[in-house]
Amino acid sequence: MYTVRSFMERDLDEVYNIAALSLKEKYPKDLYLSIDRAWKHGFFVADVDGKTIGFICGIKEQEDISRVLILAVHPLYRNCGIGSELLKKFIEVSSNQGVTKVTLEVRTNNTKTILFYQKRGFQVVATLDSFYTDGEDGYKMIRYL
Ligand SMILES: CC(C)(COP(=O)(O)OP(=O)(O)OC[C@H]1O[C@@H](n2cnc3c(N)ncnc32)[C@H](O)[C@@H]1OP(=O)(O)O)[C@@H](O)C(=O)NCCC(=O)NCCS
Repeated sequence: MYTVRSFMERDLDEVYNIAALSLKEKYPKDLYLSIDRAWKHGFFVADVDGKTIGFICGIKEQEDISRVLILAVHPLYRNCGIGSELLKKFIEVSSNQGVTKVTLEVRTNNTKTILFYQKRGFQVVATLDSFYTDGEDGYKMIRYL
């Protein structure tokens, strides 16, 4: 069984590794600390016996808007509901913090994940040309709370 709890600095190496295994984009470790500092309420990890197996992080962009920056689950632990729980927690906390709109970006060719978000109430609202550093396009998705 896993628990969802707030990010702590000791999670940094595992968070970095999960991102490296899950995403094409490469992010430096410092970035996670900056995100954590920017919005303490928006960074959660899934923890199994002290091992971090997934995380979600985001920021509050405006009084009523939060933005998911990264959601990733270790490949060995996918399809067990962990990604859904992390997203649910982010949305719950956003709502408690006065947010009415949650946004995120996803690669246009990441069909499985686009479906994952659509099933959880997000809709595509825009295409972002060359959004990613390798030139791929992104979709901006929004869920209204
Ligand atoms: C997207 C991602 C975070 C989803 O994480 P996950 O933990 O696999 O998500 P879940 O297990 O909650 O849901 C995945 C699917 O498994 C299903 N599932 C949930 N619980 C399940 C269970 N106990 N047994 C079997 N399947 C289950 C869900 O129904 C869901 O399918 P659906 O979307 O058709 O409803 C993960 O695939 C990932 O890390 N991808 C790479 C990174 C990425 O693309 N991130 C998004 C861009 S920011």
